[in-house]
Amino acid sequence: MARAQLLGVGHYVPSKVVTNHDLAKIMPTSDEWIVQRSGIKERRYVEESGIGASDLAVPACKLAVERAGRELSDVDAIVFATLSADVEFPGTGCFLQKKLGLPGIPALDVRNQCSGFLYGLSVAKAWVETGAYQNVLVVGAEVHSTGIELTERGRNVAVLFGDGAGAALVGPSPDPDKGILALRLHADGAGAEDLWIPAPMSRHNPRITHEMLDQGLQYPHMNGKAVFRWAVEKMPEVAREVLADAKLAIGDIDLFVPHQANMRINQMVAAALDIPDERVVHNIERYGNTTAATIPIGLSEAWAEGKLADATVLSVAFGSGYTWAGAVFQF
Ligand code: ACO
Repeated sequence: MARAQLLGVGHYVPSKVVTNHDLAKIMPTSDEWIVQRSGIKERRYVEESGIGASDLAVPACKLAVERAGRELSDVDAIVFATLSADVEFPGTGCFLQKKLGLPGIPALDVRNQCSGFLYGLSVAKAWVETGAYQNVLVVGAEVHSTGIELTERGRNVAVLFGDGAGAALVGPSPDPDKGILALRLHADGAGAEDLWIPAPMSRHNPRITHEMLDQGLQYPHMNGKAVFRWAVEKMPEVAREVLADAKLAIGDIDLFVPHQANMRINQMVAAALDIPDERVVHNIERYGNTTAATIPIGLSEAWAEGKLADATVLSVAFGSGYTWAGAVFQF
């Protein structure tokens, strides 16, 4: 049984840069508040209405396939992780499949928010290692800018998020010593309402009302302090689990590519794990939190800089659900 490997990784972000100063012009916030609390300086927003997560995913997927030395026609399955689906249904993977021109191959949607890429990867890993599929595109893509409330009421969440996409082509590793060495997933629904978009909701009839819209239930709501506490506990915990599974120590890790929710969270996690700054990948200052896309964007930028060659890489994520996950990759 060949081990599954990330054969190529790609990303794409829209060209429109929105700085903290731009946000401060439209709602009561400041560059100082945002940088101090999150490390974010700017983020990307889609240029115009009509662009969905599947559109951002197309160039990310093409780059991942190209870097893997494959053709698009080699792709035999898609796993699409997003919390900002193109539409309520069908799954965004189906829209991507059409845009990539790959009729007939399966397209599975994953809804595990910030942990979505690693959750998706676990499916691709199982498919590849059981021989079900050979070239699986695992995508994380988000358009947050159309779903946040750029007002005083929504500012605690709105300043954190940006748009972007990342993708990996997952297939059998040609080298038995390389590939996804370990991968673990977790969830705890006790925190399900600490970070969520309550409406529309199938448990209410009708699913959305004018009153709900007035209350802003169509926007994300977050208990930031609770999310912070859970993240700094669970991310180091799952990191230690996957390192033990891979029989590796922190000192063996060349690069740490964590989910990018908040610079302060990642600094605390890296400190807890004793990983020096120069081995930590961060781009939150440029992109904000792109949720399911942060890890593949981080991997893709590291790939472009040549940092993944023969590297041992640790990734961890924590987010809404709560969900959290970790993985060790040997490139
Ligand atoms: N600009 C200016 N002031 C703001 C803003 C803003 N954008 N947002 C909130 N404030 C104000 C609040 O109104 C409040 O004012 P008050 O003291 O007069 O009542 C004050 O700033 C403090 O607000 P808090 O929400 O208590 O701010 P806190 O210090 O907790 O920081 C933050 C908020 C940055 C969200 C923090 O809780 C955090 O980092 N949480 C982690 C959550 C996270 O990163 N989530 C990302 C998604 S989840 C994931 O991917 C892991």
